[in-house]
Amino acid sequence: MPSSRIVSQKPLRIGIAGLGTVGGGIVRILQKHGALIADRACRPIKIVAVSGRSRTKKRSINLTKYKWFNDPVAMAHDPDIDVIVEVIGGAGGVAKKLVETALANGKAVATANKALMAHHGYELAKLAEKHDTALMYEASVAGGIPIIKVLREGFAGNDIQAVFGILNGTCNYILTEMRSSGRDFKDVLKEAQAKGYAEANPAMDIEGTDTAHKICILGALAFGVKPDMAHLPVSGIGHLTAADMTHAEELGFKVKLLGIARRGNDGRIVQMVEPCLVATGSTIGAVDGVYNAVLTEGDFVGDNLLVGRGAGEGPTASAVVADLIDYALGFKTPVFGVTTPNMKKAKRMDPGEMVGHFYLHLSVKDKPGVLAEIAAIMRDHKISIEAVLQRGHNPGKPVSIVMMSHKARRADMEAATAEISNLASVAGKPCLMRIESF
Ligand SMILES: NC(=O)c1ccc[n+]([C@@H]2O[C@H](COP(=O)([O-])OP(=O)(O)OC[C@H]3O[C@@H](n4cnc5c(N)ncnc54)[C@H](OP(=O)(O)O)[C@@H]3O)[C@@H](O)[C@H]2O)c1
Repeated sequence: MPSSRIVSQKPLRIGIAGLGTVGGGIVRILQKHGALIADRACRPIKIVAVSGRSRTKKRSINLTKYKWFNDPVAMAHDPDIDVIVEVIGGAGGVAKKLVETALANGKAVATANKALMAHHGYELAKLAEKHDTALMYEASVAGGIPIIKVLREGFAGNDIQAVFGILNGTCNYILTEMRSSGRDFKDVLKEAQAKGYAEANPAMDIEGTDTAHKICILGALAFGVKPDMAHLPVSGIGHLTAADMTHAEELGFKVKLLGIARRGNDGRIVQMVEPCLVATGSTIGAVDGVYNAVLTEGDFVGDNLLVGRGAGEGPTASAVVADLIDYALGFKTPVFGVTTPNMKKAKRMDPGEMVGHFYLHLSVKDKPGVLAEIAAIMRDHKISIEAVLQRGHNPGKPVSIVMMSHKARRADMEAATAEISNLASVAGKPCLMRIESF
């Protein structure tokens, strides 16, 4: 029996395009919690149509009651559908065509597609405004953590200085396992794939692209700027070794892949993705395994940390359903917190201008004078050294030297590292990482 709280019996009619991990989860939640959701949305939310690549594929969800579309774009023309849920994926192709068609037809859209929002979010937001409809994407960043709503609504009264964090559970799992087991990257990646924590093709995750899409979206929301993937430097975790985890630990740090969007006092923004050292005892340092964490700094609210599962069927589908309930209740906010005419082109800071402490791991021949050569190059680039670790004694053979710098400009640190890597006594590629302090 519907509860007395339901104020409208007119159901919100939705069409779901994509019936994989996320689409399947959305069907499951709406089927299981129909009455609870109707109570919270003050009206029933009803699936009326679905679309997948293959109608005959065996699925663990019951779709018999829903109209089937071979072509998801045709679903966006159906007058019996109010909201299109796009959970196919991909920055372009059929997902983009579907979302554009739905918005142009005045239908609301809920999507989990971060690639689409990072690359085309601004144009899609304009289209949503033109047709006076909603484009919702809570599921696109950090799944179970409602960071889009937090930034756009919860912290709407604040000037946001920074938003950053661990935005990819696969990378966090790999780094956590490398640290705890002492195994190297490739070995742990294989295990992550076997456990279903990493895709068969893990490139988007481990190269940092997935994190870049997410921080691109969060930066747009936090600072009211156009999402801009073209000016977002990205480095991943594939080059890190178990030795880096051990050395970081000896210095009191853990390695985390961070997406960072920060605004300086001069209003310039830096947005980037890179593995960083964070203090083991810090709030973000405690976030291990597949968990995500998002930190925000607002002028009135202060620092805030949200932790949760960033991906997977349940957390991602839960975020899509929350968007559907918002829409059913009549909430409609500007897509990126401000309307598109008020979104600015960001003034960007070159990451080379960033000042911080750095970690540098070198493999060098164990012979007298090597440390002095390295120290001289650092001095020439005006970098002073806070700590040095030398591990092992193996005359004539490579040993590890790890340095932690005092505050230095990133560009100086990179130039010094390039020069050091050319020394005859240095073997292999040095590993340079910034130490994130907050
Ligand atoms: N998985 C996660 O944990 C997660 C987390 C956050 C965000 N996301 C985002 O959510 C979206 C979906 O991800 P997913 O993991 O659910 O993907 P998935 O499991 O690969 O599912 C994709 C679905 O799209 C369908 N599809 C593909 N091409 C189609 C076409 N031309 N027409 C109709 N349907 C088509 C597939 O149909 P068939 O089933 O017939 O092959 C499949 O059901 C992506 O944008 C992803 O980035 C996923």
